[in-house]
Amino acid sequence: MSLNFIRYELSYLCTFTINKKFTTIQTKGAYFIMSIKFNSLYTSDCLKLMHKMDDCCVDLTITSPPYDKLRDYKGFSFDCNLVAQELYRITKKGGVVVWVVGDAVIKGNKSLTSFKQALLFQSTGFNVHDIMIYKKKNTPFMRSNAYTNCFEFMFIFTKGSPKTFNPIKEPTVRSGKEMLVCNKKADGINHKVLKELKKEKTKTNIWEYAVGLGGSSNDKIAFKHPAIFPEKLANDHILSWSNKGDLVFDPFVGSGTTCKMAKLLGRKYIGCDISQDYIDIAQQRLKAVIEEKLLFSEESQDPSYSSTFYNEEPIEKTTLF
Ligand SMILES: C[S@@+](CC[C@H](N)C(=O)[O-])C[C@H]1O[C@@H](n2cnc3c(N)ncnc32)[C@H](O)[C@@H]1O
Repeated sequence: MSLNFIRYELSYLCTFTINKKFTTIQTKGAYFIMSIKFNSLYTSDCLKLMHKMDDCCVDLTITSPPYDKLRDYKGFSFDCNLVAQELYRITKKGGVVVWVVGDAVIKGNKSLTSFKQALLFQSTGFNVHDIMIYKKKNTPFMRSNAYTNCFEFMFIFTKGSPKTFNPIKEPTVRSGKEMLVCNKKADGINHKVLKELKKEKTKTNIWEYAVGLGGSSNDKIAFKHPAIFPEKLANDHILSWSNKGDLVFDPFVGSGTTCKMAKLLGRKYIGCDISQDYIDIAQQRLKAVIEEKLLFSEESQDPSYSSTFYNEEPIEKTTLF
């Protein structure tokens, strides 16, 4: 394994705190969007971070904002209208925003926060390309006078028509050759034909995941955050709406699930959370991935690979640990 490659990879896992007086980091490398660095985690209000990002630079955003004060994220909140506007500005033409959100029940009344936010995104200019369902396989019984809620919405907002769609396939219930019934004609005879049934089909827009330890993630540390979404959910959206090398962004990154999966799938990432405690968790999860990847990476055995990358970005500038 090449030492240079390890040093280069670790140099990529950085955290920054964005203060009012943000210091611009100067670099010759191609890894910066204005003063914002790829493959980094930022402790910041996401609006402040997005103000530092160029127009049309993000391929895919996957995020779950805080909503309806369902969880106490140390009292932090956000202005959805301004966030939608900034996301629209920084998203590439054909880029996608996956917005995972549910509704609280307030005095017996569903908040409809999800749809209010979706309408804001639509008025900002995004297409509501799809409304998908994130179904939780295991949910506790919560209400005595209603069925157990087991889903959240996954709004797919797009800036125009999506530039990337790699549909995930699943096996069809039946495949192989089968006699198919044709419509009867005037003679009244049922003309059956032998046809090959398809082996697989594009998944539906209801995605089901187990939640909790061993479901959402095997990373125990992730559960120090009160509301993570499943790694597989992030994985499936990244595969669907982006390609290798694309930039994936999460403005409310929490425990870092989106960035972890982006890293594993060979995408660039930027994550942001207003809480330093959550960014610390995210950083530890990312660090474990990078170290594991390095251990098993075939590419890291190749000296030409490591030297090319190492030369582009000297580690002294960005290593923070
Ligand atoms: C639902 S959690 C995200 C969880 C994440 N998807 C995961 O898998 O760990 C929402 C996060 O938004 C953060 N947050 C709240 N207000 C924020 C703001 N204005 N800017 C950035 N992050 C904020 C909270 O600290 C919280 O971690």
